[in-house]
Amino acid sequence: MIVALNHKSNFTKDEILKYLEDYKNLNTYNHEMILIPTACYLPLIEKNITFASEDVSSKEMGAYTGEITAKAIKSLGATYTLINHSERSTKMNEDLSISKKKLEQAFSSDLIPIICIGDTKEEHERGTYVDKIKEDMDYLLSDIDKSKDFIIAYEPIFAIGTGIVPTNLDIEKVTTMLKETYNKKILYGGSANEKNIDELKQVKNIDGFLLGGISLKLDFLQEFLNKLQ
Ligand code: PGA
Repeated sequence: MIVALNHKSNFTKDEILKYLEDYKNLNTYNHEMILIPTACYLPLIEKNITFASEDVSSKEMGAYTGEITAKAIKSLGATYTLINHSERSTKMNEDLSISKKKLEQAFSSDLIPIICIGDTKEEHERGTYVDKIKEDMDYLLSDIDKSKDFIIAYEPIFAIGTGIVPTNLDIEKVTTMLKETYNKKILYGGSANEKNIDELKQVKNIDGFLLGGISLKLDFLQEFLNKLQ
């Protein structure tokens, strides 16, 4: 399975160096691990580790002070980048049209996008979430060659960092639609941890997990991997 580790805006330089040292001792079985640290630490990652960026700029290279372009990320050796993580919209006010530009930048720089897509609590309770997710995905992928390589991460917005996880049946409605429509690898993310992985690994049509909180604590992550194998 794919196990992607989203560090978000955590760790100082000393802390990430310690983490990277300890990470070498992790038993990852045969899982495809993808490390996703804060962008400034990408050059600290050793060559044998597959890594991704948490985000890329919606702009190409040029006079955009503070932006980190997809091309720059690619030049550091990244394979993947997250696109459209819900914290970009809920906390940084970015809308889908910006995510679409970022997606185009990722593709044109040969980064494989991990497209995050999710529903709000209201959409989930209203029961309209599968349609809403398809609508958002279709918008993001409009004018894009669907045969391109990308991964989709279903992350219910209300599940991220909250400890609230939808039922397997609810998750499957989305993962099955995504698999049938786009035929790509599908991840689940949102409060997945060492306690609920026994249950979550039964979800149909998933190829792995996108982990936030638990990715920061290697002892819990090891427990998670032990149960996933
Ligand atoms: P979480 O985060 O595992 O802490 O819920 C997942 C994510 O934001 O990708």
